[in-house]
Amino acid sequence: MDRYDIRKDYAWNFDHAPEPVVGDVPAVDGDWTYCGQPVDSPLGIAAGPLLNGRWLLYYASLGFDILTYKTVRARERESYGLPNLQPIAWPSGKALPEEVDTTTAMEGSWAISFGMPSKPPRFWQDDVTATRSRLAKGKFLSVSVVATPGPDDSIDDVAADYARCARWAVDSGADGVEANFSCPNVSSVDGQLFLNATDAGIVAARLREAVPKKPLLLKVGHFTDKERARAFFEAVAPHIDALVMVNGVSTRVRNAHGELLFEGRCRGIGGEAIRGLVFEQLAWFAGFIRESGRPVRLIGVGGLGQAADVSQALGLGCEAVQFATAAMLDPGLGLAIRKEGF
Ligand SMILES: Cc1cc2nc3c(=O)[nH]c(=O)nc-3n(C[C@H](O)[C@H](O)[C@H](O)COP(=O)(O)O)c2cc1C
Repeated sequence: MDRYDIRKDYAWNFDHAPEPVVGDVPAVDGDWTYCGQPVDSPLGIAAGPLLNGRWLLYYASLGFDILTYKTVRARERESYGLPNLQPIAWPSGKALPEEVDTTTAMEGSWAISFGMPSKPPRFWQDDVTATRSRLAKGKFLSVSVVATPGPDDSIDDVAADYARCARWAVDSGADGVEANFSCPNVSSVDGQLFLNATDAGIVAARLREAVPKKPLLLKVGHFTDKERARAFFEAVAPHIDALVMVNGVSTRVRNAHGELLFEGRCRGIGGEAIRGLVFEQLAWFAGFIRESGRPVRLIGVGGLGQAADVSQALGLGCEAVQFATAAMLDPGLGLAIRKEGF
């Protein structure tokens, strides 16, 4: 099955999306929702693998019903250069290593380094509209958005930028908006928003005003501290429909020559290595939701790659799950999980 080529850069892969596949997609029994909207299954693709509408329609044809359009901005932004996806080894027994080593072959996890590139708004808006018109009922098109702050921007400016992007996504036909509060690959405020509860609350409130009638999800990164996670939850919960977690887990990457890659800056790790951290964080937030009684949904992502992971996430209280790494390595993953059942 055609898949993303990690030897080539973002621009090449953007232009080389596979055609949708025609074939049987096993049905998933049960009633499923995403932010309360009916969908055919709880199986989704995270913000990342779906670079544009053509990639989105490819994965939609392969049994994924929640399709998240890779993060876009209110202005054009270039991608970082290669490597965009660098295979790594996660040291065994380490919950959260300060650094990881590169590997030549993919062993299940990689460092992700794109820097949230974006086409100009007119481009992605038209692409979202055209893509939604080609998606069947029972599929949910979510658009991931982020702000592009200047060095002197206040939190109100950042909030206004997020809100504008979210509004554009909905006006273009998105079924929902996922605001990314957590890119591990950028060092500006938009990459770290989830770690500042007050600012996160301000932005979430502005987003809700901009998108009063469509599902609003927030994507967050890895919390190392439970009380900080709780403070974040309390600040944003009144404004949103769902929380999506976890984004790549941040660490440094060293190559075989002993040199730090990416100028010594952290990158997000995706894939099997982070599964344990993800389930721990999902359990924390499931607890916050229960204790608060707020109608916030939980969407699991990070290190998931098997039917058993789906069952475990749903069992913890997730409404749905998203895959990035595992579905890029094996685009047939959704079909296999549907066949096996969960
Ligand atoms: C190729 C790629 C690109 C990504 N780009 C984004 C992005 O634009 N926005 C975002 O919120 N997360 C992005 N992510 C992070 C994923 O959505 C996900 O949170 C992370 O990879 C962990 O899930 P996984 O273990 O299934 O890969 C990206 C991941 C990958 C692999």
